[in-house]
Amino acid sequence: MKILFLDQSGKPGGAELCLLDIAKTYQNNCLVALFSDGEFKQILQDSNVPVQIIPSQLIKISKKSNLFQGINSFTQIIPLITRIIPIARKYDLIYANTQKALVVGGIVSLCTHIPLVYHLHDILSYTHFSQTNIRLAVTLANHFSSLVIANSQASKNAFITSGGNTNLVKVVYNGFNPQKYQIGQSIAQKTRQELEVTNKFVVGHFSRIAPWKGQHILISALAKCPAQITAIIVGDALFGEREYFQQLHQQVAELGLEHRVKFLGFRHNIPQLMTACNLITHTSTSPEPFGRVIVEAMLCGKPVIAAKAGGAMELVKHGKTGFLVTPENTEELAQIITDCYHNPKNMIAIANQARTTASQNFHLNQINQQISQLLCQLKLGNHES
Ligand code: UDP
Ligand code: GLC
Repeated sequence: MKILFLDQSGKPGGAELCLLDIAKTYQNNCLVALFSDGEFKQILQDSNVPVQIIPSQLIKISKKSNLFQGINSFTQIIPLITRIIPIARKYDLIYANTQKALVVGGIVSLCTHIPLVYHLHDILSYTHFSQTNIRLAVTLANHFSSLVIANSQASKNAFITSGGNTNLVKVVYNGFNPQKYQIGQSIAQKTRQELEVTNKFVVGHFSRIAPWKGQHILISALAKCPAQITAIIVGDALFGEREYFQQLHQQVAELGLEHRVKFLGFRHNIPQLMTACNLITHTSTSPEPFGRVIVEAMLCGKPVIAAKAGGAMELVKHGKTGFLVTPENTEELAQIITDCYHNPKNMIAIANQARTTASQNFHLNQINQQISQLLCQLKLGNHES
């Protein structure tokens, strides 16, 4: 089966890193077409996945676009569609990995009769999207796609609540290679030395910098924790959230936490950094559709505290494989961080159970097999025109 993957982003967000792992298994029979250039292209090339940037105008449609902006941006994607149609004719399947890719892929599928699959990485709700965007996504998915792969039950439920066709949608979680997250203690110690946190209790936060990822919640909670507890905040403002980044620095200064918070920017060595931490927090203020960082923390054998909403509730069982806290509740978060600091031994059993459960439930081989089976069930007719 020859697959044309479409993704709007040149940046390595979670949806793109998920796509990377799927595309790798089709690397001799696929092309990843990106609508913008960026670091993700290099990451795909380093993994020998064929990639092509499809030159396009900057598509100005945003998650909050209204109807007028939507129609306006629709005219901008016509050249993109014209470029993709001849490429798509060489493939059996179009696999749209993002919303803009769904819009483009839907029309290309209509013109070429090549089946379309939509990988839904979002919870379609008003916290993230405008009504216009939700309607557009659901209408296109219902009419043009043969299959919708939702990254969690939470994403599936929101799709159906928004009018999505129940029969089209199947849940497949993100997959991970557990071996990648087995980092030796000597490397963890070395990383702690490099970070100058050898004798500290380190809480890690690993997400792109964005208001809804809630880095400010961890900073507020840290101010309520014993002074020996420090935080590393890993990730960059991938989609222009510079103002929020500055607010975080300001918040750290106002709370006098300069010596207890380190911003590390975007890093490629997440397993090493996670293993160097004592505890990992996830603090999204809106329901997280899946939350790769939560599973990654579990695979590193680290206790994880996650915001109790969306996909995170499917990943962590409170008190058994991690902790769930009320989103935006800094007191509750500070309390659990402090408990973990005082009773590190009690966390070992939870972290070990988390590692075992995550290795079983989110193993990349198993997940890729699920996707391959779903794709094989599609009727890939003769679409030559
Ligand atoms: N990540 C990374 N470097 C960073 C910060 C994050 O490689 O500096 C990775 C992280 O390991 C995870 C992904 O980016 O695999 C983020 O995915 P997640 O589902 O947690 O959130 P998203 O950003 O997609 O909403
Ligand atoms: C999106 C979601 C995130 C999810 C990732 C992979 O980026 O925001 O929650 O983990 O896709 O499916």
